[in-house]
Amino acid sequence: MRDATQGLTAAEAALVAAAREAMRHAHAPYSRFAVGAALRMTDGSILTGSNFENASYGLSLCAETVAIAAANAQGRLTEITAIAIMGGAMTASGDVAGDAVIMPCGRCRQIINEAQDMGGRAITILCASADGSAVTHHSIDELLPHAFGPANLGLAARKEGRS
Ligand code: THU
Repeated sequence: MRDATQGLTAAEAALVAAAREAMRHAHAPYSRFAVGAALRMTDGSILTGSNFENASYGLSLCAETVAIAAANAQGRLTEITAIAIMGGAMTASGDVAGDAVIMPCGRCRQIINEAQDMGGRAITILCASADGSAVTHHSIDELLPHAFGPANLGLAARKEGRS
């Protein structure tokens, strides 16, 4: 198996590894699609989240949203510098498979945009496949151009770090 993490910095590879660990904790008995997200914070620490589904399907939470809300609950919404996301289909043996990178859904893009605007620095988005064969780099400006954000509500977004 080709290991795409070989092209990453050590810090990026560690963040993808943390997303993989979080993916293992997904509560996804309905979709059987596990997702993990890992945030790199300004002090170098990592916070994680995994998708959290519900028998009332529409209440399910995405991994990225869980991770960013957890950062906010610690008073650290403005400290995020990067997010790694990994996901794939759960197999009968309990593994997670797939060679396609997972991209953040539209709602998660909006939530990443909120964190970036509040933090005032660019958040690097690393999208990884469950088998580790592919990792792609993105910015929120690429994934959510012309975003609706704090500025639209009269709040001064801190744009200086935007790429
Ligand atoms: N999911 C995420 O956790 N993040 C995304 O960006 C896309 C989708 C989850 C939601 C649901 O539990 C499962 O993946 C299948 O849609």
